[in-house]
Amino acid sequence: MLEFATEKLQDEGRQGEAFAPFENDPNAYKRRFYIESYGCQMNFADSEIVASVLNGEGFGATRNLEEADLIFINTCSIREKAEQTVRKRLTDFKKIKSRKPALLIGVLGCMAERLKAKFLEEEKLVDIVVGPDAYRNLPSLVEEAESGQKAVNVLLSRDETYADISPVRLNSNGITAYVSIMRGCNNMCSFCVVPFTRGRERSRDAGSIVQECTDLFNQGYREVTLLGQNVDSYYYLPSAEEENTIPVTFAMLLEKVAAISPLLRVRFSTSHPKDITDEVLHTMARHENICNYIHLPVQSGSSRILQLMNRTYTHEWYLGKVKRIRQIIPDCGISSDIIAGFCTETEEDHQETLQVMELSRYDMSYMFFYSERPGTLAHRRYRDDVPEEIKKRRLAEIVALQNRLSLESNQRDLGKSFRVLIEGDSKKSEKDWMGRNSQNKVIVFPKENHPYQKGDYVQVRVDDCTQATLLGKIIL
Ligand code: SAH
Ligand code: SF4
Ligand code: F3S
Repeated sequence: MLEFATEKLQDEGRQGEAFAPFENDPNAYKRRFYIESYGCQMNFADSEIVASVLNGEGFGATRNLEEADLIFINTCSIREKAEQTVRKRLTDFKKIKSRKPALLIGVLGCMAERLKAKFLEEEKLVDIVVGPDAYRNLPSLVEEAESGQKAVNVLLSRDETYADISPVRLNSNGITAYVSIMRGCNNMCSFCVVPFTRGRERSRDAGSIVQECTDLFNQGYREVTLLGQNVDSYYYLPSAEEENTIPVTFAMLLEKVAAISPLLRVRFSTSHPKDITDEVLHTMARHENICNYIHLPVQSGSSRILQLMNRTYTHEWYLGKVKRIRQIIPDCGISSDIIAGFCTETEEDHQETLQVMELSRYDMSYMFFYSERPGTLAHRRYRDDVPEEIKKRRLAEIVALQNRLSLESNQRDLGKSFRVLIEGDSKKSEKDWMGRNSQNKVIVFPKENHPYQKGDYVQVRVDDCTQATLLGKIIL
C-alpha cells in the first residue's frame, strides 16, 4: 500500500545489508553520500535507484550526516505541508554546509521537478537539483557541482523506467521490498500535482520486473509490492526484437510474478477504482500468494465532488466496485485515501464521504485535508473556498469514523487464524514477532520457544486487538 501519510521522516538514509562491502572495506568507496526520502513509496524506491547509480560512481552510503560529502533529499510536493517539511530539513543541512563548505547538497524528486531552477534562487546553498527522470545523469551533475557550478536536470522522459538498474536496498528488513513497475500518471485528477512532477505514464519492461522479483526471492525476500500510481493501467508492449511479443497487462504481470514461487507474496499499489478489472480480481482469487488486499482510494463520497476532482466515477459506481471485490475475493482487505474540504464541498457532500466509508468498511485509510497545489487543474479552475477550520473539523470526523471502522474490522478477526509472514521483531519487544496477514494487517505474537525466523510463514490465531494491531498466538 502506498503510505502517503508520510510527510514525516521515514528513511534516515540508513545503510542496508547491501552496503556490507563498505563496512568491510572502508577504502572501497572514497566518498560518501547520505540520502533522506519523503513522500510516497515510489520516492523510497527511487532513492534505491539513486543509491545504485552513486555506488557505480564510487560513492558509498552513510547514515551519518556528519561524514557525508554529499547530502541528497528526495522530496515530495503532494501537499503544502510536505514541502514545508523539506524546507525545514534543508535548513539543518545548510547549517552543516556552513561549517563544511565542500559539502554538496542535492534536491531530488517531485519538489525539484516542480520548482526547477527556481529552487536554486530560493535555497541558495543547494548545489544540485534533479527531477525523477534524470537520476542516470547524477554522476555528471555531481561532477559539475564539484567544479563549482550549480547543476540542474529536470527533464521528464516518455520512456525512462530505470528497468536495467538494480536498486540498492536501503534500510531494508531483508524480507519485503518495493518494485517499481511503472512511472508517471496520465489521470489528471484535478487536485493532484503528480502528473506534473512525474510526467507521462510508462510501463517498465515485464521481463526486468520478473527478473528483479526473482533475484529478490533468491536473496531471501518473501514479499514484493509492485508500485505505480495506477497499477491497473500497466501495459507493456514488447519491442519487435523481443522473443515474446505478446502485450503484458497488469493481470498477466501479477500472474508472472506470482509464478516465481508460492513462497513469494505479491502485493501492489495503487489501484484507481476506474481501472481495476475483474480479470485482476480473478487472478488474485486464483493465486494464494497474491495478497487479498486492495488500496482503492475513493477521495470523496460525493458524485458532484468526484466530478470536480475528475475521478471519472460516482458514489454508486465506487460502491459497486467494492461489492464486486467482495464477491470475487470475500475476505479482501480494502483501504482508501480520502480528502476533506475540496473546493465547494458542502456539509451534504461531506456526509456522503462518511457514508461511503461506512458502507465500504475500510480496514484503514490515509486521510488529508485539501491542500491547493500550484499549476493543478483545481488551482486554475476552482476556488479553494472551504475555510481551514471547516476542513479540519471534517477531517477530524473522517478520522474518528475510520478509527471506529478499523477497530470493528479488527474485532471481526478475533478467533480467526491467519497465515502470517514474519517480518521481524515487534517494535515493543524482542520476545514478540511482528508480521502481516494477507489482508495487510499487522499481527504481533510471542516467539515462545518456536524455532521460527523472519521470512518464515506461521499460522497465528488472533485473540486480542487494538485499533491498529491484531494480537495472537502461534498455532501448530
Ligand atoms: N495515485 C494514487 C495516489 C497518489 S497521491 C491514486 O490515484 O489514488 C496520494 C494521495 O494524496 C491521494 O490519493 C490523495 O488522497 C492525496 N492528495 C493528492 N493531492 C492532494 C492535495 N492536493 N491535497 C490533499 N491531499 C491530496
Ligand atoms: Fe494523482 Fe490521480 Fe494520478 Fe493518483 S491517479 S497520481 S491522484 S492524478
Ligand atoms: Fe509526493 Fe511525488 Fe510521491 S509528489 S506522493 S513523492 S509521486
